Amino acid sequence: MLSDEERARYTARLCRLSDQVDVAKLRNTTINQDLFLILDYLPRRFVDLLFIDPPYNLTKDFGATSFKEMTSEEYAVWFSAWFARLLPVLKPSASVYICGDWRSSGVIQSAVDKHLVIQNRITWEREKGRGAKRNWKNCSEDIWFCTVSKDFCFNADAVKLKRRVIAPYKDENGKPKDWDQTESGDFRLTCPSNMWTDLSVPFWSMPENTDHPTQKPEKLLAKVILASSHEGDLVFDPFLGSGTTSVVAKKLGRLYCGIEIDTEYCCLTEKRLAMAAFENTIQGYSDGVFWERNTLAYQNGNTRNGNSATNQLALSLREGRTKYAK
Ligand SMILES: C[S@@+](CC[C@H](N)C(=O)[O-])C[C@H]1O[C@@H](n2cnc3c(N)ncnc32)[C@H](O)[C@@H]1O
Repeated sequence: MLSDEERARYTARLCRLSDQVDVAKLRNTTINQDLFLILDYLPRRFVDLLFIDPPYNLTKDFGATSFKEMTSEEYAVWFSAWFARLLPVLKPSASVYICGDWRSSGVIQSAVDKHLVIQNRITWEREKGRGAKRNWKNCSEDIWFCTVSKDFCFNADAVKLKRRVIAPYKDENGKPKDWDQTESGDFRLTCPSNMWTDLSVPFWSMPENTDHPTQKPEKLLAKVILASSHEGDLVFDPFLGSGTTSVVAKKLGRLYCGIEIDTEYCCLTEKRLAMAAFENTIQGYSDGVFWERNTLAYQNGNTRNGNSATNQLALSLREGRTKYAK
């Protein structure tokens, strides 16, 4: 993924802390260190939005290091050891999002509840998951949405979902009821909910894909960042991985700072950040709205003959329901 020349170039850009540091030095940086070793060097109250995607309680290799599955009690101790020390970085108006799978999620909820206001639990339907013979396939993750106080930003209009209309109800004048008839199809803009079904994990064929084993989709970060920060705000990620949080923050005009222990992942982050200066699209987010999965043809306006199965379904439902259209 990285050439030797790239590795040398991007390593030179990485930041290392050996003492307390001023906010100005942290803006738009990737810190290549162990979070535990530098927590006390971070400034107070500099973060508007904190996104945390820690290793889940599973045995997994992350480049040169690995995480070993532990008991839930041990995971709770590990989580609280860094989480409580991280909190002073937050501004009083900050929002915090914390990812976990079903095994880690309960531990996260109890640890977080002691310190923050839990606003919601988002469920992300991750369509990729390993089938199991003696259990239900695991294809969801939780994202806890919390705030420091009751004073926080939430831009609901910035994260609307554009859905194809299956039941195109019309009002008494025969006009679309809460949906739009467009050249490329019929769509409705819906308010964001805590059930996220429009996200794909970054597949090998997607430009954002890297070698990181648990990379989050850029579209997921775009929702979080657009809903819970303003342009120019600082977004912080202490388990940065391949850099998705910083990359999307940059694409959306926010400041960023991230910490990652693995140098190779930090270099991938820097490469993605360099690319974001020229290519700031986010797959699944265009024209200021989020699109459902598998709607690339619609987003490109190329639908008259495309995606026929869905169009056929919409058409047949529409024909069957015209009598209810008033
Ligand atoms: C779940 S992954 C984050 C993936 C990331 N959200 C992305 O989109 O690529 C967790 C990351 O935390 C890093 N990590 C684990 N322990 C760490 C520590 N003590 N300090 C800094 N980074 C750590 C791992 O190397 C791994 O890349």
